[in-house]
Amino acid sequence: MKTHSEFVCQQCGYKSASFLGKCPQCGEWNSLVETVVSGERLTTGAKRLTPEENLVRLAEVRSQQIKRLSTGFAEFDRVLGGGIVPGSVVLISGDPGIGKSTLLLQVAMQLASSQLTVHSRGKGKKSVNRQQLTDNQHSVLYVTGEESAQQVKIRADRLVHSSQFTVDSKKKTVNREQLTDNLFILPQTDVEAIVAVLEKFDPALLIVDSIQTLTTGTLSGLAGSVGQVRECAHILAKYAKREDVPIFLVGHVTKEGNIAGPKVLEHLVDTVLTLEGDSMHHFRLLRSVKNRFGPTFEVGVFEMRDMGMVEVADPSQIFLAQRMARHPGSVVTSTVAGGRPILAEVQALCTSTLFGVPARRVTGLDFARMQIVIASLAHLGSYQLANLDIYLNVAGGLRTEEPAVDLAAALAVASAAVAKPVKEGVCAFGEVGLLGELRPVSNVANRTREAKRLGFGNLVTPERFKTLEEAISYAIHGE
Ligand code: TYD
Ligand code: MG
Repeated sequence: MKTHSEFVCQQCGYKSASFLGKCPQCGEWNSLVETVVSGERLTTGAKRLTPEENLVRLAEVRSQQIKRLSTGFAEFDRVLGGGIVPGSVVLISGDPGIGKSTLLLQVAMQLASSQLTVHSRGKGKKSVNRQQLTDNQHSVLYVTGEESAQQVKIRADRLVHSSQFTVDSKKKTVNREQLTDNLFILPQTDVEAIVAVLEKFDPALLIVDSIQTLTTGTLSGLAGSVGQVRECAHILAKYAKREDVPIFLVGHVTKEGNIAGPKVLEHLVDTVLTLEGDSMHHFRLLRSVKNRFGPTFEVGVFEMRDMGMVEVADPSQIFLAQRMARHPGSVVTSTVAGGRPILAEVQALCTSTLFGVPARRVTGLDFARMQIVIASLAHLGSYQLANLDIYLNVAGGLRTEEPAVDLAAALAVASAAVAKPVKEGVCAFGEVGLLGELRPVSNVANRTREAKRLGFGNLVTPERFKTLEEAISYAIHGE
């Protein structure tokens, strides 16, 4: 049977030879996705039914020591669970312009220049002679579908300096030649052509920027359509598993915040990382959302400088760097991003309302939660919040939506409303309930340790105070 494509409804499985806007069977709109149908797959499926060759006792599977590759960034390695696993497919998603290409190009340059990491070849069936193997040991192939080789070069020239900067600090000198010698750029969007190059070239790492620009000849849809993205990722993932080559895929986030439509890629890949940040601020958080080879919700902190991404080893200090201590409306809180605590400053400003309805503006925090916090505070009766415009913000562009920041936000508003600073050395975290009670939060030990490390030993937490009222009267009024 010849390979062809058909349109399959993702809701009910209805098949059609042509595209339909609405599924005639289940009535869902835009649910038909172009899918490859190949005769080959059917026969392999049938063959698989007979022998029991794939049947293995779990106890008999030998556990292997995985040799991970280092990205050159300690923060990045940690998010990946200790480095890049050979044969793994990692999806990096994020808003346009957030720095995905920059970060990956830096990784490519650092890996291509590294002399230390050893890439252990898997059971690839191709015959590769030894010379070729050593040649390509640190070679990185960067497939670019969005930029020309020239554009990548311009970017790389800016970044060389920064890599020297990071590597220098570890007392290793890297010269310009070494940095780009093993790095190859392939401006190509045809996935079959890319695989053909890979078969010959066999790199230690493949970077694809971005998966939405790739197309396969077997489907007729446009680049970036759900069918194309899924099939191209599938073809590349098959290559990665077969040849034990790790792949980084860049994926753009759609307007709804999904990666290329309804999460099409997430189950296909081993690891999903998101690069977040505020384009107005320099900080970028690299989070792992899914990871088959490490912990999830791990976070790495980077700073976007004019010469590329620089890792931030001590984020708490940076987020508190410009803090005006002993100023009304400023409260330090200990938030947990991944398993990692980060101290942040919650700021509140209260000004009298000019036009009848008081304004509430919140940045970096969950608006609905903050409305509840403000309501609980107003309910205490000691603050005339109805006549005040309230502005809440997390300094430095950090975003935290966890309930643990409730207490710090409440203290900040109360402190701003009465124009009295909170006590020296206070760090507050805890959830505020609708009745004004304080509720315990997770990771207390981690949060406490980080707060004490930076000199905020006076903890205002649900463990110490039962109600918001008690916490406020201690932290602000000093009783
Ligand atoms: P980019 O990596 O192209 O983002 P993405 O691939 O996620 O779309 O990053 C683009 C932005 O980063 C751009 O606005 C310029 C900025 N930038 C720096 O601040 N410093 C740098 O060294 C580089 C290369 C880019
Ligand atoms: Mg890009």
